[in-house]
Amino acid sequence: MASAVYSMQPTSPTRWSVTSQFQEGTPSENVRAEETLAESDVSPAVEDSIPRAFEGMIGASEALKRALAHVKTVAPTDSTVLLEGETGTGKELISRAIHALSQRRLRNFVKFNCAAIPLGLLESELFGHERGAFTGAISRKIGRFELADKGTLFLDEVGDIPLELQAKLLRVLQEQEFEKLGSTQTQRVNVRFVAATNRNLAQMVSDKEFRGDLYFRLNVFPIVVPPLRERRADIPLLVEFFVQEFSQRMNRHIDTILASTMEQLIAYSWPGNIRELQNFIERAVILTTGSTLRAPLDDLKSPVETAAAATTLKQAESGHILKILRETRWVVGGPRGAAARLGLKRTTLMGKMRRLGLSRPDYEVAT
Ligand SMILES: Nc1ncnc2c1ncn2[C@@H]1O[C@H](COP(=O)(O)OP(=O)(O)OP(=O)(O)O)[C@@H](O)[C@H]1O
Ligand SMILES: [Mg+2]
Repeated sequence: MASAVYSMQPTSPTRWSVTSQFQEGTPSENVRAEETLAESDVSPAVEDSIPRAFEGMIGASEALKRALAHVKTVAPTDSTVLLEGETGTGKELISRAIHALSQRRLRNFVKFNCAAIPLGLLESELFGHERGAFTGAISRKIGRFELADKGTLFLDEVGDIPLELQAKLLRVLQEQEFEKLGSTQTQRVNVRFVAATNRNLAQMVSDKEFRGDLYFRLNVFPIVVPPLRERRADIPLLVEFFVQEFSQRMNRHIDTILASTMEQLIAYSWPGNIRELQNFIERAVILTTGSTLRAPLDDLKSPVETAAAATTLKQAESGHILKILRETRWVVGGPRGAAARLGLKRTTLMGKMRRLGLSRPDYEVAT
């Protein structure tokens, strides 16, 4: 039975209230939510949000810091930003931070999920329509471009936008003008675009699934949001944050996480990234009756299985190095250390660990 524990800090970072008021919903619910972020509805917190914009984001890894440094640099410009990263890595949270750090922060942040809206409705959702423009268009509708005028339009899952619409989207990105469906009048807007995708757009261009000209127009300032397994130093912070958040919500008093539990959470590859971790911790908090977190660790695949199922060489390398580090109890040098076992020089292994975001958890390893 493991005896070492990971003690939770008495205070944890709080979520930034402005970002947390948005929820996923149907397209029309989203419009309503976003419409409410008009000038008058913006909380005073947004006004001095420059140092606070990242407050809802937990993490201290070098990989995350590098990505956030790019965010800070590009946010105040009006340039288009392309956020690339696996599912659940925090692209949406970052898109909101870009808006909050920009001159447009007092205007609308409008989200448009290109994958969630049926093809037939995409055009009218984006461009809006006049009354009677098509069967069922019983009233005039404002589209997302118009809603986002002087603000930011977040084009989520942009890789899923159908080829038929890509030329029209390119025109709005380039010329900032469009026509409502059923209207001949050209409307001009002033919109800042942030796009996100978990697909490989460059590959899609080669496969002729995505227009090259649209890709280059979106790819002005790409930011890669790293997966959790490449920033393992963030895992204990996120675990602690979510344990506190869910404990509070469910009125539980959890103040201890076994070191062996934390170690397994750090070792797991989290293919669903932060969203998967968040859901896992919610489940763990539900299952906990005492003050020590009871995590259903059997639900997680072991690092070895994960390494076997890894899709890239980098993932397999990371999984294997981590397995050896755990076996050598994080001893890197010396004849029985991980470097010797892996047939590497100590400095080479340390360089690899830095690059892959592998670091020894700063609590005692359970025995
Ligand atoms: N650094 C972070 N700190 C705390 N919570 C985070 C962080 N990054 C993401 N989250 C949370 O993780 C969940 C997933 O984040 P988000 O929706 O931004 O990911 P995404 O990259 O847009 O995912 P998808 O590609 O699946 O849409 C959200 O609940 C978000 O609040
Ligand atoms: Mg998203």
